[in-house]
Formats: sequence, structure tokens, C-alpha cells
Amino acid sequence: MKGSNGFAIALGLSLSKSVAAVYTNSTSSCCNAIAQALSNNVYSPSTSAYNVSINTRWSGTSVLEPACVIIPQSAEDVSAAIKLITQNQCKFSVKSGGHNANPGANSISGGVSIDLSGFKSTSLSADRSFVSLGSGVTWGEAYDAFNSSNIGFTGGICEDVGVGGVSLGGGQSLFAPKRGWAVDNILNYEIVLASGDIVNANETSNADLFKALKGGNTNFGIVTRVDLDAFDFDGLWGGEVYVNLTGTEAARSDVLDQISHAITNFTTNNHLDTSSAVQLMTVYLSGGRGQIVNAAFGNTDGVEKPESIQPFLEMPNQVLNEAGPVKIADFVHKVSQFQAKGYREVTASVTFNNDYNTIRDIWDATDAVYDALSSKDKVDWMVSFIPQAQIQQTYAAKRGGNSLGLTDVPDQIVVWLTSRWTDPSLDEMMEGARQQFVDESVAVAQKYDTYYPFLYINYAAPFQNPLCGYGDESVEFLKTAASKYDPNGVFQTLMPGGFKVGNLTCS
Ligand SMILES: Cc1cc2nc3c(=O)[nH]c(=O)nc-3n(C[C@H](O)[C@H](O)[C@H](O)COP(=O)(O)OP(=O)(O)OC[C@H]3O[C@@H](n4cnc5c(N)ncnc54)[C@H](O)[C@@H]3O)c2cc1C
Ligand SMILES: *[C@@H]1O[C@H](CO)[C@@H](O)[C@H](O)[C@H]1NC(C)=O
Ligand SMILES: *[C@@H]1O[C@H](CO)[C@@H](O)[C@H](O)[C@H]1NC(C)=O
Ligand SMILES: *[C@@H]1O[C@H](CO)[C@@H](O)[C@H](O)[C@H]1NC(C)=O
Ligand SMILES: *[C@@H]1O[C@H](CO)[C@@H](O)[C@H](O)[C@H]1NC(C)=O
Ligand SMILES: *[C@@H]1O[C@H](CO)[C@@H](O)[C@H](O)[C@H]1NC(C)=O
Ligand SMILES: *[C@@H]1O[C@H](CO)[C@@H](O)[C@H](O)[C@H]1NC(C)=O
Ligand SMILES: *[C@@H]1O[C@H](CO)[C@@H](O)[C@H](O)[C@H]1NC(C)=O
Repeated sequence: MKGSNGFAIALGLSLSKSVAAVYTNSTSSCCNAIAQALSNNVYSPSTSAYNVSINTRWSGTSVLEPACVIIPQSAEDVSAAIKLITQNQCKFSVKSGGHNANPGANSISGGVSIDLSGFKSTSLSADRSFVSLGSGVTWGEAYDAFNSSNIGFTGGICEDVGVGGVSLGGGQSLFAPKRGWAVDNILNYEIVLASGDIVNANETSNADLFKALKGGNTNFGIVTRVDLDAFDFDGLWGGEVYVNLTGTEAARSDVLDQISHAITNFTTNNHLDTSSAVQLMTVYLSGGRGQIVNAAFGNTDGVEKPESIQPFLEMPNQVLNEAGPVKIADFVHKVSQFQAKGYREVTASVTFNNDYNTIRDIWDATDAVYDALSSKDKVDWMVSFIPQAQIQQTYAAKRGGNSLGLTDVPDQIVVWLTSRWTDPSLDEMMEGARQQFVDESVAVAQKYDTYYPFLYINYAAPFQNPLCGYGDESVEFLKTAASKYDPNGVFQTLMPGGFKVGNLTCS
């Protein structure tokens, strides 16, 4: 093990801290056993690699202190590690981009943290029909790698988000109306199962696992690589408009009316212009530094100012209006600036059938949650509305389906909270805020009979139940696949991170 002038010394250091209780015998024997097999890839708390790994996370809420960090370099390393983890019954976590803010989603206190940052390969197949991405690659890195290749693929819009999490959750992209979820464009997963077997899951081999992985989260194995459909692509026409909610051309409530109409209409008509995509986000800055709405949009056919996007370009109270031809790498770096690392964050989400009244009332209902916060001046509050047009769900079938359970839904909208702060003493207030955000949004949707139980698993709060939102049929399918590919329940019992299907009961 790297840096272990005795792992015990490292443990001794950690024992002096408040986390002492979680350093169990079984954990230290786990780290020692794995270190014997993979000596170059295991890091104790005294090493700088450990420190970098535990801190390389989008949100401070997900920084925990594992007993050791493993940074495998190959699927064989992962296989060796998972065998020892099973043998020794070690608790473990898995991290790709580290973007999930839920405590324990991608790290673990006192257990074994598997960090996939060694899986950084990016390549384009000789016939240019797919890209292969290591599961530790971030989407920003993926777009950068192919910036000069004139090749496109469906990936995340935030630069730090990882291939691993998106490939197991869904994947929202600018290509959603034209190509579906990112997972609907995956041709093959390379995955290490609980047995240590390294297998492919694709349409012809382990087809049930292939379908299950496309939304099934952390119930099946550790993905080491995905092969993702690719196509010729020069770049977008795209950009951003910032609208000042407290500006002088139009009153706050008029701006909210207009922008709610714009996003409703856009979603209704999205099937007529599948190359256009829009996401809205309100940003209420801490310290009373202003309230704006950000519209980020793109046309993936490079069409300038498409009619479907025009209403966003014409909003009143504009403080910025920047759009033009742009490479997706540069677009993604730009729009990610709002979501920098280094804060504490909560996320949560609700889905409803596309409807003006629901959107408009959710602004007001969630504004009231924000306004009632005792320390709202210390909080940045961001609420996004993301179109999820019916047409987005039509692409799954042609590649063996996914597990999201959305084959028969109308046009929908996902509302998503990301809110950030820095002072840990506000954690409790923010936990309450996100619960209220969910309760209020659900209540509005129920009032208009637009509530739909799906929610994007990658935005879900820990107390939410995204797998149940996939519907009974999908849950049964996932349970069957989980017990087939992981008969001893290694991913159910030893890996607490993520949403588990094993003992799930949905009402
Ligand atoms: C600001 C922001 C912007 C976002 N933008 C987008 C977007 O544009 N599109 C989109 O689809 N989503 C987006 N998301 C959501 C994003 O998909 C989730 O945060 C996702 O969990 C991040 O994936 P990751 O690999 O970075 O996360 P991690 O936190 O590393 O992993 C997430 C979960 O997946 C598990 N996991 C990760 N990799 C593997 C693997 N290889 N094998 C097994 N389990 C694994 C982890 O254990 C963890 O439970 C965004 C989120 C935020 C906060
Ligand atoms: C750890 O547990 C094993 C068996 O469970 C036992 O043999 C060993 O003595 C324990 N070690 C310590 C340091 O407690
Ligand atoms: C660990 O990393 C953090 C930030 O990433 C840094 O502030 C801190 O000094 C580092 N600690 C050690 C012991 O290296
Ligand atoms: C991508 O390529 C363009 C030129 O086509 C260049 O201007 C830009 O800087 C590149 N971006 C990155 C992130 O490499
Ligand atoms: C599917 O998996 C099989 C078995 O590993 C492999 O031979 C085949 O190439 C894979 N197909 C794709 C599309 O990757
Ligand atoms: C929004 O408008 C108000 C009122 O005109 C102004 O004081 C404020 O500076 C504006 N904010 C931004 C970000 O332009
Ligand atoms: C949305 O559509 C409605 C009805 O079709 C129309 O009256 C309204 O002007 C449109 N609003 C925007 C902002 O496009
Ligand atoms: C599921 O239930 C079984 C039996 O009650 C239990 O042993 C197991 O720990 C549970 N698994 C999880 C992940 O909670």
C-alpha cells in the first residue's frame, strides 16, 4: 500500500479524530487484504492521493473519510478488489465524476472507497460509429478529447459530471429530443460483477443486464467502460440569455408568466424541432446580490436563432444575450460556470406533465420556501425547469429498452433544485428546505393533476424514491436482474451508495 509506513500508523492518525468509531477491525483487515493484492493502488489516510481523492467531489456534503482509497487502473484490478471485498465482507463505495451531492452516494465513512479516476481512456472507433469512454471520464474531458474530431455523442451538459453516474442513471443532454437519454445511445457496457467476472452487457450479450443498467443505478456491478453511439457533428448554435427578475422593463411576475409560457410552448412543440433544446434556471444569489433567470439553449443542427428558441431570446430585462456557433466542449465549459465545485449542496427533483399553471405555481410555491429560510442571505438557490418531451422516450426501444419506465408518458417537465451554501451549520436548514421544495412542488402538481412519480435518479434527494417512480413492472424487472447478476446481494448490502432495488417496496 502506498504511503503505509504501516497502515496502522495511518489508522492511528485517524483514530485521534472524531471518526474513530467507524474504523472497525473488519475494515482495516479489508484495506490490508486489498493492499496485499493491489499494493500500488491502495492509499491510506496519510497519503496525498487519499486526500485528493476524498476531496475531489462537487459538493462538500459528499466528502467522507474512508479507511482507505483504492484507485484501480484496469478492469482486472477492479475484479481483484471486488473478490476481496466479498470475501472479507467489506463495506465499499464507488466514485466516478463525484458529482452526486448525497452524503454516502459516492464515498463511505470507514469503508473502502473505490475511485475510478484511473479509467480515463477516450477513443473513437475506426469507423467513427462509437466512442469508448472510461467510466472515470467526466463529460467535460470527453468533449475536450474529441474537440477536433467533428464527432458528437449524447453526454451531460455539466463539465464535471462523470460518465459512470450518467450511464447508470439516464443522461440529459442537448440531444435528448433527437436521440433520447444518454443511456439510449450506449451500445455496450463493460462491467465487473460481484463474482469478479468482467463481462459485456449489450443488445446481444447479457441483454437483460444491458436494459437494467440503463437507469438501474448501483445494483449490478462496477462499470469500467461504455461504448457510446457517435455521429458526425460540427458543433452547435447555442448560448445563454440572462433575465433580471428585478429589472425595469417588466415586473417580476410578468417575467415569470412569460418564461413559463415559453417553456411550456417549447416543450409542446419540441417534437417539431428535435434539434433544439432549452433549460431554464433561476439563480437567487446569496447576500441579496440579485435574482436572475438563465436560459441555456442549443440547436444541434447549427440552425441560428431557431423559431422554437425565439421567445427566450426576446425576454424583457435582459442582462446578457450571447449566442452563436460553438463547439460543444466550449459550450459545456461556459454553462458549467454557475455550478462550480467547492460548496455544500442539496439536490432534489419532481416531474410533472407539461402544463403552464403547474410551472407558474411552482415558481411561487418554491419562492415561498426560499423566502422563509432563516438564513437565505447565505444561500444560492437555483431552480431548473428541464423539458422532457414525449419524443425523448421513443428512442429507447430500438436499442433494447431502458429501465426508466417512461415508454407511455406525455410531454413532461422536470423541476430540479440545486442549492448551495458554505457554512456546515446551515446543513439542517437546507435539508428542511429541500424537503419543503419537494412537498410544495408535489402539492402544486397534484392540484393540477399533473404529478408524475418519475424523477431523474441522478437529481434525487436521499429521502426520495426514484426507482419506485419507474413503475412496478420495471422494479420487478430490476429485482430479477439484480438477483441474477448478484445472487449474494453484494451491491445490496456491502455498497450502501445509490438507490437499491433489493428490499424495495413501492406503495
Ligand atoms: C450541477 C449539476 C449538473 C448536472 N448536469 C447533468 C447533465 O447535464 N446531464 C445529466 O444527465 N445529469 C446531470 N447531473 C446529474 C448527474 O448525472 C449526477 O450528479 C450523477 O450522479 C453524476 O455522476 P458522477 O459519475 O459524476 O457521480 P458519482 O457521484 O461519482 O456517482 C454517482 C452514483 O453512481 C455510482 N457510480 C458512479 N460510477 C459508477 C460505476 N462506474 N459503476 C458503478 N457505480 C457507479 C456511484 O457509486 C454513485 O452512487 C448534474 C448534476 C449537477 C449537480
Ligand atoms: C480482527 O478479526 C479477526 C477475525 O474476525 C481476528 O482474528 C483478529 O484478531 C482481529 N484483529 C484485531 C486487531 O482485532
Ligand atoms: C487535503 O486537501 C485539501 C483540499 O483539497 C487541503 O486543503 C488540505 O491541506 C489537504 N490536507 C493534507 C493533509 O494534505
Ligand atoms: C475547441 O476547438 C475550437 C476550435 O474549433 C477552439 O477554439 C477551442 O478553444 C477548443 N476548445 C477546447 C476546450 O479545446
Ligand atoms: C457484446 O458482447 C459480446 C460478448 O462479450 C461481444 O463479443 C460483442 O462484441 C459485444 N457487442 C457490442 C456491440 O459491443
Ligand atoms: C437588475 O435590475 C435592478 C433594477 O434595475 C438593478 O438594480 C440590478 O443591478 C440588476 N441586476 C443585474 C444582475 O443586472
Ligand atoms: C405560447 O402559446 C400560447 C398559445 O398557443 C400563445 O398564446 C402564447 O403567446 C405563447 N407564448 C410564448 C411565450 O411563446
Ligand atoms: C434486506 O432484507 C434482508 C432480510 O430482512 C436483510 O437481511 C438485508 O440486510 C436487507 N438488505 C438491505 C439492503 O437492506
